[in-house]
Amino acid sequence: TPLLDALPRLPKAELHLHVEGTLEPELAFALAQRNGVVLPYPDVAALRAAYDFGDLQSFLDLYYACMPVLRTAEDFHDLTAAYLERSHRDGVAHAELFVDLQVHLANGIPADAVLDGMLAALAEARRTRGTTGGVILAVVRDRPVATAHEALDAVAHRVHDLVGIGLDSAEVGYPPALFVEVFERAAALGLHRVAHAGEEGPPSYVVEAVELLGVERVDHGIRAVEDPTLLALLVERGIPLTVCPLSNVRLRAVPDLASHPIRALLDAGVAVTVNSDDPAYFGGYVGANYAALVQVGFTAPELARLAAASVRASFADDARKAELL
Ligand code: HPA
Ligand code: ZN
Repeated sequence: TPLLDALPRLPKAELHLHVEGTLEPELAFALAQRNGVVLPYPDVAALRAAYDFGDLQSFLDLYYACMPVLRTAEDFHDLTAAYLERSHRDGVAHAELFVDLQVHLANGIPADAVLDGMLAALAEARRTRGTTGGVILAVVRDRPVATAHEALDAVAHRVHDLVGIGLDSAEVGYPPALFVEVFERAAALGLHRVAHAGEEGPPSYVVEAVELLGVERVDHGIRAVEDPTLLALLVERGIPLTVCPLSNVRLRAVPDLASHPIRALLDAGVAVTVNSDDPAYFGGYVGANYAALVQVGFTAPELARLAAASVRASFADDARKAELL
């Protein structure tokens, strides 16, 4: 259809993307072989067959099981480059990528290998395709808080190579309040602040992310729809949500696309953006997420507004935003 044909030409920013979640099964096995690492699945078909998730935790178990194949700067480069190449075809002109540094440090990988690899791929994408973007250090909330501080220690000598700090992984039982000091430290280092909240966790976690961590965007945030006072707060403060429709369906945060709260959030006046989260695992890159919205009645002007909202919600500088708007 003409609507779908025009989608890739809408300049967009991808703001909720876990680089490890772009690890396609074929690349996972190629890296396993290159590094002499054994995956807990015999082949690509068996790994892909395991992509049947009942909730966030069942996904995270598989996602973390694949991470040990990532060992060298070259691995992080190849992973990031593959994502940037793929997302360019969907019109992603600016990408902010989460990385679960604590997990790689625990696997014995130096922080510099992770960042050198990712930044080399980002620099190439800027040179060859004009893509801008950066890296967000995602705090893995179900690991000890001390390891979050260790991750910050490991990047303190090159903090200007990061755009921001985030908060991800198993949400329920790990409220934002646990990370006040980590986020204060990150803010003092000049980092932007975002956090996953209200994916599986209650609206009160979104309130904590805003009021206690000082986040500038909320990742997912869909359960904010349950709390009118919180919706008003997000509107008043202009705090965008990075919504991931296909992720929410695959992890059963919502029963189906038709009942996804994205429409209600937009109607409430919240700044909503569309993103892919972990596209290798959830059945589509950002273009597929926009296309899924067409199926539930979104029109061409609405998709254009969502794309423009993603640019405005990004941490790109004003000159870059103006180019893309
Ligand atoms: N939620 C929380 N943690 C994550 C996700 C997510 O969707 N993807 C990767 N880590
Ligand atoms: Zn996420």
